[in-house]
Amino acid sequence: MRRALAFVIFAGFAGLAGFIFATGRPEIAPSSVVKEYDRKVLSQGEALAALGSCATCHTRQGGKPYSGGSSIQTPFGTIYSSNITPHKENGIGQWSLAAFARAMREGVSRTGAYLYPAFPYDHFSRVNDGDIEALYAYLMQGVAAQPDKTPANAMSFPFNIRQGLAVWNALFLNPVLPKSGPGQDAEWARGAYIAEGLGHCGACHSPRNILGAIDGKRAYAGAFVNGWYAPALDASSPSPIPWTKNALVNYLMDGWDKHHGLAAGSMGPVSTALRDQKEDDMFALAAYVVSLAGPPKSPQAQADAEKMAMARVEKTDWNPARDNAPPDATIDPGQRMFQTRCAECHKSGGKPAPLALNSALNLPDPTNVVRATLEGIRPPQGALDRSMPAYRNQITEADIVAVTKFMRARFTEREPWTNLEEVVRREIQRR
Ligand code: HEC
Ligand code: HEC
Ligand code: HEC
Repeated sequence: MRRALAFVIFAGFAGLAGFIFATGRPEIAPSSVVKEYDRKVLSQGEALAALGSCATCHTRQGGKPYSGGSSIQTPFGTIYSSNITPHKENGIGQWSLAAFARAMREGVSRTGAYLYPAFPYDHFSRVNDGDIEALYAYLMQGVAAQPDKTPANAMSFPFNIRQGLAVWNALFLNPVLPKSGPGQDAEWARGAYIAEGLGHCGACHSPRNILGAIDGKRAYAGAFVNGWYAPALDASSPSPIPWTKNALVNYLMDGWDKHHGLAAGSMGPVSTALRDQKEDDMFALAAYVVSLAGPPKSPQAQADAEKMAMARVEKTDWNPARDNAPPDATIDPGQRMFQTRCAECHKSGGKPAPLALNSALNLPDPTNVVRATLEGIRPPQGALDRSMPAYRNQITEADIVAVTKFMRARFTEREPWTNLEEVVRREIQRR
């Protein structure tokens, strides 16, 4: 239904674009003249590239940095990231600063072709001139040229007509930063610049409308993107202990916080990339993210929420002395699985954060829990001593369903997931 509607609307866009923008956007002439940037600008650009996760998307598994070719699945087809090394033919080696700035801000390639918003230019459009130039300097002079040809996209009709994006841009491209409200200072504004610009946090954490544009009214309400569910960061956050500024700085820079656990799934590389950012900037980002959940909580309200959650931890944490059941047929198979496979780590006083504090178990969708169990968890840099084995080839489909059901029931107060069997089957078939 949604797809059919998107089809009709986008086909209309493409037709409309054909009329209004018949000539498309002009090509920007190839140029090889690039001034020599100094080391300071290059290292500024390198840090900005990390903040923007450019390498995460623009490097396929086993490929050279920035040589492109990694795939992004969208509801409209598969898109491949471009080679953005300074290679003359297959990269951006012949791009002027003006061509690069236009791509980042307007989503138009040097040749004049429209780019798909899987490239988060709807966020990068908010990045200032100095930062754009530093990024350009780094990509042109700090990155080695690679000859890899970018694979052709596999978009379904009518989404394969790039012209249609002209209308998409007219409707949805909004290169302004949120205005600060009362009590929101320069630190908050810096955080907004990072999150809404290069950090493109909303690209994963915000739901999109049927045409793939971020739904402004539901910004940060949580979304399913490229195989992972990015939890809500607004007032509907599933986190049993509300996020504080300090907890966020730990999570974002170290990839782990004692009240929230590890940054897993597609958040892992984000946290790895944020590790070397300036601490001031990460506190600013945290100040902005905390504000997404509403006006600041009083220290008392935060303490009360923590106390309540810790009481639940006390009650539900696996305690071998109390919880280990004899291995007979009467106990729930999920509980037995947990006892024999998981409780050696996930027990009271164990190394992982208590599962009762884990957002993934509290999400509306079980995908993250199922994927963590199947694929294991490799820690982001900075949380190196934490990892979890992959159970893909160790336990059966029925075991995964049972243990996931058990964890949801034991560690949360939420309704059982209704699509669990379906998700487990889908994730077992992945790859
Ligand atoms: C979420 C994934 C993602 C991230 C993050 C990302 N890109 Fe991209 N980028 C893409 C995809 C996908 C394309 C190709 C879009 C298309 O084919 O329409 C692309 C295209 C581009 C292009 C146009 C290349 C061309 O030949 O037309 C440039 C330039 C670019 N990205 C630069 C960057 C920079 C700089 C960063 C970091 C600040 C970045 N990208 C971060 C996914 C990403
Ligand atoms: C590529 C997609 C992606 C991007 C970009 C991204 N996130 Fe995430 N984020 C996720 C996913 C997926 C999770 C869930 C991780 C898990 O289950 O361990 C997550 C988890 C989180 C959490 C923990 C939420 C909770 O309640 O446990 C926070 C906080 C967070 N992200 C903040 C950010 C910020 C700030 C940014 C921007 C700098 C950002 N994210 C960018 C995908 C993303
Ligand atoms: C060797 C220790 C170990 C074992 C065994 C183990 N885990 Fe984990 N698990 C971890 C660590 C470490 C984390 C990361 C969280 C942290 O450090 O706070 C984690 C996290 C998780 C998460 C949270 C994922 C997320 O996205 O946030 C789930 C769910 C989970 N484990 C389920 C299981 C299940 C189910 C089993 C048994 C089938 C299991 N674990 C066995 C160490 C382990």
